[in-house]
Amino acid sequence: MKVVEDPDVLASTTRKWQTNGQVVGLVPTMGALHAGHQSLIERARSMCDRVVVSIFVNPIQFSESSDFLSYPTPIDSDLDMCQTLGVDLVYRPDAKRMYPEGFSTSIHVARLTDAWEGRDRPGHFDGVATVVTKLLAASRADKAFFGQKDFQQCAVLRRLITDLDLDVEMVVCPTVRDHDGLALSSRNERLSAESRRNALAIPTSLRSLQKHFDDGQTESATLCDSIVQALTDNDLVIHYVEIVDSTDLAPVGTAQVGNVVIVAASSGGVRLLDNHILT
Ligand code: PAF
Repeated sequence: MKVVEDPDVLASTTRKWQTNGQVVGLVPTMGALHAGHQSLIERARSMCDRVVVSIFVNPIQFSESSDFLSYPTPIDSDLDMCQTLGVDLVYRPDAKRMYPEGFSTSIHVARLTDAWEGRDRPGHFDGVATVVTKLLAASRADKAFFGQKDFQQCAVLRRLITDLDLDVEMVVCPTVRDHDGLALSSRNERLSAESRRNALAIPTSLRSLQKHFDDGQTESATLCDSIVQALTDNDLVIHYVEIVDSTDLAPVGTAQVGNVVIVAASSGGVRLLDNHILT
């Protein structure tokens, strides 16, 4: 497995593979790899001849510098996981190389970023869109793999890829959950035992919402109320609970199959995201 810091070396390596007819998959990450990332890498491994994992804690997508500074960076175990999973190349750019003196470009995906995470974390999606565009450009990947847990991020990146005619197929992989249902996230490590127990109200209430929907309840407000109640009962601070259209992320009054229930709530000060596509 190669570990590369230079975008030119990344580009020349992937170009050589593609010249030999090989399909290149990119799994963009910020490191602190867990089983959710593992599933993305395994999916990429099964669909591509060559797998590139990028590990870059992107400073411009953090709205709070304390969040950036405290982001875990267990590089040795990350590289071990990549090696074990048969990754061909890990791209580990340096922040100064990614954003050199004079860097002045920012990619802004309008409208889709106005609400939800975009409202609560100003500039976050500009940072994500900018870095993902740079990672796609440097890797020239044929396919790129993202997790459904970050539903709004996936919607924003899908729009970006379409609008900029980027020649890459976006593959969205299902959310991976812990044994008790909590969606895996690098942030879960920051939960105390009590906050983690309380946080289980998120996946549990998403599952009950699906049951209410199966029983015929389609009014979004009523469906969401049951989640709000469960989260409040478990001391979670709610940022939003909504049922939205899966493409434009606009709230819907009457829920239907394919709509997405999106939830952001903090447990013990740790912001957690989850979602469920109604079936
Ligand atoms: O989802 C993430 O880990 C990040 O937002 C991404 C896509 C790697 C961009 O930094």
